[in-house]
Amino acid sequence: MNKLTHILCIGAGYVGGPTMAMIAKKCPDRKVTVVDINEARIAAWQGPDLPFYEPGLREVVDATLGRNLFFSTDIPAAVAEADVVFVAVNTPTKTFGQGAGRAADLQYWEKTAREIQSYATHDLIVVEKSTLPVRTATAMKRVLESGDSRHHFEVLSNPEFLAEGTAIADLEAPDRVLVGSAETPAGLAAREAVVDIYASWVPRERILTTNVWSSELSKLAANAFLAQRISSANALTELCEKTGADVTEVSRAIGADSRIGPKFLKAGVGFGGSCFKKDILNLVYLCEQQGLSRAADYWRAVVEMNEHQETRFVGTMLKAMFNTVAGKRIALLGYAFKADTSDTRETPAKVVADLLAEERAELVVCDPHALENARKELAPHGGRVSFEPDPYKAVEGADAVAVLTDWRQFAALDWARVYALMRKPAFLFDGRNFLPHRALFDLGFHVYPIGKPPMSHF
Ligand code: NAD
Ligand code: UGA
Repeated sequence: MNKLTHILCIGAGYVGGPTMAMIAKKCPDRKVTVVDINEARIAAWQGPDLPFYEPGLREVVDATLGRNLFFSTDIPAAVAEADVVFVAVNTPTKTFGQGAGRAADLQYWEKTAREIQSYATHDLIVVEKSTLPVRTATAMKRVLESGDSRHHFEVLSNPEFLAEGTAIADLEAPDRVLVGSAETPAGLAAREAVVDIYASWVPRERILTTNVWSSELSKLAANAFLAQRISSANALTELCEKTGADVTEVSRAIGADSRIGPKFLKAGVGFGGSCFKKDILNLVYLCEQQGLSRAADYWRAVVEMNEHQETRFVGTMLKAMFNTVAGKRIALLGYAFKADTSDTRETPAKVVADLLAEERAELVVCDPHALENARKELAPHGGRVSFEPDPYKAVEGADAVAVLTDWRQFAALDWARVYALMRKPAFLFDGRNFLPHRALFDLGFHVYPIGKPPMSHF
């Protein structure tokens, strides 16, 4: 087996950057280069402010940058030097043409394949790190070996399972690493060489190997299963609110069954993030393409339930606040799609903010790390939305507070002070179901959790 000493990753985003920094940390005997077409991003990786907030990332980058981790925009030189190329470019949902709104937009991936093909100077292992439709590896190989290409390209799948906010812990000790390859002598040899990279720190029994199609599909399936659990919990919330059951108690009771397990059963305002929705819709599209309408409908319902939960949250706010929020000041605590990240892609907070702005509420958005993104995304609402890093200033004179991200800072607020600062009646909508509802009610708030009956003083 040839040791892969020059590792290249194309795409310096949320996956490419942290993953390669961890490989560089764990494999000091290998050189790791990350390239991107986005010059600002490459500069940020080498500067004082990383391109996004991720706990622990700074330390890993500091320990490796310039030692065996390098960032560059010189793609031709990097490809020429590489033994293996990880492709971690974005694969968003297509917004145009056939499959718009469902299929994966593969233009960035295909451009990358063409770049690799034109700059390769020798045989190469190419690894799909991005999340891709099952059977993309065939298309990848066709692009790589088209025209007058003289080299052999072995295409593998090694999907990434890290979650934002816990990326470093996930990379340090992954539940599993998955490496799929063709089951040919060349494919198996390439598989072993890629496994060998991870074996530097991941126990062998946690490195799963499969054929390439199983690997590609497992990534879509894993995200679909995780999101389905959240939608299942959310699908119980309205029934809980109407019957006096408490969804957090129900989730605890269900999760205590070792066959089910406790994780990803937390009901809330809905799941966000760049991947759940896009990957499920991609799965839906793949099923539709194969004529599997029942399977497509099944998975589509996971996304539909999520959209229902987001709009239902605003419906609850409106109803509670006497069917009008026009001119009322509402503080949105949290804008990131989850705690411990500055990422706001597909955040439920944007849906909530858009709907409330349509109702002519005056919004104040507060988030410890995501205000820059919030400013850009909510700019179309003009003066109707303001931005305030200090939660106590954000709630001053507010009629309502809606908690949309489970930042620890918000749980630790002096809620008596918050209550005192607000206009009365003071409404509290806990979109993450993580505040002490009884104690808040006792302070005077009208409390609206998710999945348990409201606690109102009226
Ligand atoms: P991202 O948008 O943060 O980063 C992708 C990067 O690729 C961008 O910086 C972009 O400039 C670059 N790029 C695009 N085309 C290029 C080209 N032709 N040459 C060089 N660079 C190019 O995306 P991300 O969040 O890192 O996601 C990447 C992939 O990983 C997606 O398929 C996603 O589904 C998957 N994934 C993401 C996560 C996550 O937590 N974000 C987790 C697991 C898997
Ligand atoms: C998710 C998966 O967890 C990763 O394994 C996967 O690699 C990644 O997608 C990807 O492919 O991009 P991520 O989106 O970063 O990771 O974060 P999660 O922790 O999964 O949270 C997603 C959303 O679900 C958040 O909005 C979170 O608040 C919400 N969530 C999560 C709930 O509403 N309830 C829960 O019980 C768990």
